Amino acid sequence: MTATNEKPATKPVVLTCAQPTGKLHLGNYLGAVINWGRMQDDYECFFGIVDQHAITIPYTPADLRRNTYSCLAQYVACGLDPSKSHLFAQSHVIGHTELAWILGCICPLGQLERMTQFKDKSRKQESVGAGLLYYPVLMAADILLYNATVVPVGEDQKQHLELARDLAEKFNRTYSPTFNVPEAFYGRAGTRIMSLQSPDSKMSKSDPNQNGTLYLIDPPEVLRKKILSAVTDSGSEVRAGDDKPGVSNLLNILSAVTDRPIADLENEFSGKGYGDFKKTVADAVIARLDPVRQRYEELVNDTAALDQIFKSGADAAQKAAYRTLSKVYRKTGFVERPR
Ligand code: TRP
Repeated sequence: MTATNEKPATKPVVLTCAQPTGKLHLGNYLGAVINWGRMQDDYECFFGIVDQHAITIPYTPADLRRNTYSCLAQYVACGLDPSKSHLFAQSHVIGHTELAWILGCICPLGQLERMTQFKDKSRKQESVGAGLLYYPVLMAADILLYNATVVPVGEDQKQHLELARDLAEKFNRTYSPTFNVPEAFYGRAGTRIMSLQSPDSKMSKSDPNQNGTLYLIDPPEVLRKKILSAVTDSGSEVRAGDDKPGVSNLLNILSAVTDRPIADLENEFSGKGYGDFKKTVADAVIARLDPVRQRYEELVNDTAALDQIFKSGADAAQKAAYRTLSKVYRKTGFVERPR
């Protein structure tokens, strides 16, 4: 057997996407982006910035464009590596909306109308565009276009992911086996990062009290101020527990950014007060995020470099997308495009 006869091993495909929301916070980083980064050696990874999803609710075009670049710079700064993975913008790849159309034609309308995110988002708007109803179909297309096996997502995307699985199965049954039925990957337990100001709710960019949200690109003095003014709990012991949501959250953060078990940290701080503890959390978070922010700042205004990353991501994604799309068009019964 010579090496030349061997087929190159193909890695299973991971795909995940996020809307270009602007600034990523510590919960996005520890709960999601770090995990994506860890998959880059073992999987062929597609990381999409879904600008077409972003226009399903009212938005400002100039902000969308700026946020799309900024998100790319933040992902790269967090360790998503364009030499290993495909980082692309959804609107750069022909196939997402095309496949969404076909999947939409086999998708029961009722299933879309019952989506909880659709109901939530439409309640918040005066007029609702049809694109908002179609959002989950486009998301299914994002996933199936690349034949993803694993899709890392937040728990809030469970219903959307179920739809993607249903549509894959329905297409396979209606036409013939074509798509992998993708599996969700909900991340590691224990990385739910809560607001520093109201530790009963998740850290969020839409929290009215922004002192509770740590952004990756916050300057060190801002991070320190927010952490030192985090709410703690009654008593003075540094230990995790349901009766101590504030301290538990800070322990969780410290554990995640230092890769040390909670029990070790509880030992280290036994007999010490909240003040020392918070100072340590602030130092550790800053040590972890400062290189990320610096890398971001180098990159974010280098539009040429960001465009180059988008180009190589789109080239690779487009190749995979055309492969799927032409197969799907053939099975659907469309006449082959004359060359
Ligand atoms: N709806 C997802 C979210 O808001 C974003 C998304 C769009 C996505 N397409 C996707 C996530 C495909 C995973 C796979 O988080």
